[in-house]
Amino acid sequence: MRLDKFLSHSGFGSRKEVKLLLKKKQVQVNSQVQTKGDFKISTKEDEVTVVGEKVLYQKYVYLLLNKPQGVLSATEDSKQKTVIDLIDETYSHYDLFPVGRLDKDTEGLLLLTNDGELTHFLLSPKRHVKKTYFAHIDGIMTEDDQEYFKKGITLEDGSKCLPGHLEVLKKDEANNSSDVLITIKEGKFHQVKRMVLACGKEVTFLKRVTMGSLRLDETLQPGEYRELTEKERTELQQFLPEE
Ligand code: URA
Repeated sequence: MRLDKFLSHSGFGSRKEVKLLLKKKQVQVNSQVQTKGDFKISTKEDEVTVVGEKVLYQKYVYLLLNKPQGVLSATEDSKQKTVIDLIDETYSHYDLFPVGRLDKDTEGLLLLTNDGELTHFLLSPKRHVKKTYFAHIDGIMTEDDQEYFKKGITLEDGSKCLPGHLEVLKKDEANNSSDVLITIKEGKFHQVKRMVLACGKEVTFLKRVTMGSLRLDETLQPGEYRELTEKERTELQQFLPEE
């Protein structure tokens, strides 16, 4: 890889900024000052330092975002704000994309990465990766609804869902509403909202709280994000069952 690209991908700014660093003789490769951006290095074998500090190369980035309502789960849109617009410019050269989609009015856990292989694993319909949602429902979810979830709900278009899990957290008879946790293993369009509609009720608030081994970090306010910890990354890679 070119030295300037390597430095830029490792957080040392644009090519122009990197050029300046090189010109100032602040970069060394294997203890030799290098001033040429097109100098070729091996990201595995060569040791690069900037002002004496070793540079760690990061090929992939994994961001855990608490998606706020009102933004699209897309990389770009000519009119509306997307989840990528929420991310700081320091990550712009990573070409991040969201792993799957949440509706515009849904909030909660959304993984952003540039790791295509992991994304493929997590979204593959064959892998049945579990996702759990907290939902506020207009109406009272019943034991019959729980049974229906367990059996596999048939949506309004006739398509059948895999068995899911419905846990009722709170029933508010006075306001005719309930709070529930819904776990599903697929990702059909508007799936949770349509499953609840099939029970004759309506989702009025939806938030994803888990995806596979990942859990929403409740210290993140909607719109905030952080990189996955090493532990979270390892668990995510390890938990993936065979395809
Ligand atoms: N199910 C939905 O209905 N909406 C989402 O955003 C995610 C799952």
